[in-house]
Amino acid sequence: MKKFLLLIATACTLTTMGACGSSNKQGSSNDLGEQYKINFSEESVNPKPNKKVLVISASPRRGGNTDLLSDEFIRGAQEMGAQVEKVFLGDYDIKFYTEPETEPGQPIQWPQDDAQMITDKMVDADVIVLASPVYFMNIDGQMKALIDRTFSRFMEIKDKEFFYITACADPIDSTAMRAIDGFRGFVMCLPNPTERGMVKAIGMGRKGGVKGSQFMTQAYELGKKV
Ligand SMILES: Cc1cc2nc3c(=O)[nH]c(=O)nc-3n(C[C@H](O)[C@H](O)[C@H](O)COP(=O)(O)O)c2cc1C
Repeated sequence: MKKFLLLIATACTLTTMGACGSSNKQGSSNDLGEQYKINFSEESVNPKPNKKVLVISASPRRGGNTDLLSDEFIRGAQEMGAQVEKVFLGDYDIKFYTEPETEPGQPIQWPQDDAQMITDKMVDADVIVLASPVYFMNIDGQMKALIDRTFSRFMEIKDKEFFYITACADPIDSTAMRAIDGFRGFVMCLPNPTERGMVKAIGMGRKGGVKGSQFMTQAYELGKKV
């Protein structure tokens, strides 16, 4: 699977994607393992003050559990002086990824929607928070559609720190981990990512059920560690 993704990325780079030029430099078969490494650190590996934090909230329910947890994370991060921007994906037009049809030598025509703008913000951020409910044992379609659309610039989403937020109805950790695995599948394809922490709100079927729970405290405390 890893080789498959790298092959696609490399083929795209060679044929059509000028913006992903850096992927070419990592194309030796010897360093495939290195490319798919996620670093793990509870402490920040970026000493920069006032970090730019991008929170991507993928719940279709504004004020849903993952959205409320995102806001608590933001509250903590802002108290620590971070510059936080929240993107609620439901507010934006993000088409599915489709293979662009481009004549040789012509610039790639990506769909005219909001995916490029959000991808630009991901490239610009120091810290990215991915928040999605568990839908059928994975991240939801809103989040996956955006992730696929980062294909135009994903090799530029480099050296970022990541936090994950998820919620599910099942009261068991392994269900929440399905969404975490979905996030990691994306993050592991990026250059030099560092995973900093996560909130897994289990047993949350009802909208707003997370209010007053330990998970809200966890999200706030995680935000303060940004
Ligand atoms: C389409 C859909 C699929 C879902 N799939 C699962 C699932 O596989 N496992 C689970 O525990 N909860 C599942 N749920 C429940 C949601 O994960 C849960 O209600 C979560 O709190 C929703 O997050 P939100 O409030 O941020 O939207 C599903 C809900 C929907 C609408």
